[in-house]
Amino acid sequence: MKLFTVKITQNTEIMTKVHLIGLHAPDIAGQVRPGQFVMINCGKERVLPRPISVHGMTVHGEALLLVNIVGKGTEWLSERVPGDMLNVIGPSGNGFAVSRDAQELLLVAGGMGIAPLAFLAQQMAVTHEVTLLMGAATASLLYPQDRLPLNIHIVQTTDDGSAGRKGFVTDVMTDYLAGADQIFACGPMPMYKSIESLMVSSEKVQSVQVSLEVRMGCGVGACYGCSIKTRQGMKKVCKDGPVFNLADIILDEVRV
Ligand SMILES: Cc1cc2nc3c(=O)[nH]c(=O)nc-3n(C[C@H](O)[C@H](O)[C@H](O)COP(=O)(O)OP(=O)(O)OC[C@H]3O[C@@H](n4cnc5c(N)ncnc54)[C@H](O)[C@@H]3O)c2cc1C
Ligand code: FES
Repeated sequence: MKLFTVKITQNTEIMTKVHLIGLHAPDIAGQVRPGQFVMINCGKERVLPRPISVHGMTVHGEALLLVNIVGKGTEWLSERVPGDMLNVIGPSGNGFAVSRDAQELLLVAGGMGIAPLAFLAQQMAVTHEVTLLMGAATASLLYPQDRLPLNIHIVQTTDDGSAGRKGFVTDVMTDYLAGADQIFACGPMPMYKSIESLMVSSEKVQSVQVSLEVRMGCGVGACYGCSIKTRQGMKKVCKDGPVFNLADIILDEVRV
């Protein structure tokens, strides 16, 4: 993990208030694994850097980010234009771990959870059978399917039924559990609670790796700002995560 000053290569709003931003960062793109993140300085007015998952990489040494505007930092980031420079630390944290003997992977993305999971799908599509369940509140917030690998199975859901199947992404999960060798999820806390319940009632015992998007301070293990209580003791999300086994997390204790 290092500090880099990198140039923005592209910035396009691809969903409502969600920008795809490219960074010329061969040092990051060359070593990053899906599930890892970068800490980005978002302007002089904000002391703390903001954590953003790496969303992909290109053959040109670009690291891609998917940024949802929720506050001043992400708004500032969304206003950057190609040629602007950014201070970035990373890649940080532990990413998703795909086991050697797994063949069928089930990816469950709720809303912006698609950011790290699209990267995992991109990396695994060549060697594994990948099913991606992708949910959003409404059609304009669904990640564009044409940006995903062609050879994966995609199921879309929207809460309001404006695209794909109506309902939550976890509503369709039971149909795919039996075939999955490994499950990876990223989304809001209520989604993790639903998955936890599904796993309790599932006949097949499976571990689920989830990425926790808690508030961070330093992002490098120094401030304890991201500490969470787990069944394996206290853990720092920025250093020990952000990917954890769902069974190890005490969901009611996690504050986002
Ligand atoms: C490991 C990790 C990976 C992440 N990856 C992405 C990503 O790929 N794309 C992306 O858009 N965002 C991602 N986030 C969330 C992102 O870091 C926050 O949305 C961002 O820090 C908000 O900064 P802000 O200044 O815009 O908003 P602030 O002014 O700091 O906050 C505005 C609102 O956003 C909420 N918020 C702040 N931080 C978080 C958070 N960590 N999770 C959820 N809500 C938050 C606050 O509660 C508040 O309501 C990630 C977070 C973590 C920890
Ligand atoms: S954010 Fe500072 S220790 Fe994790």
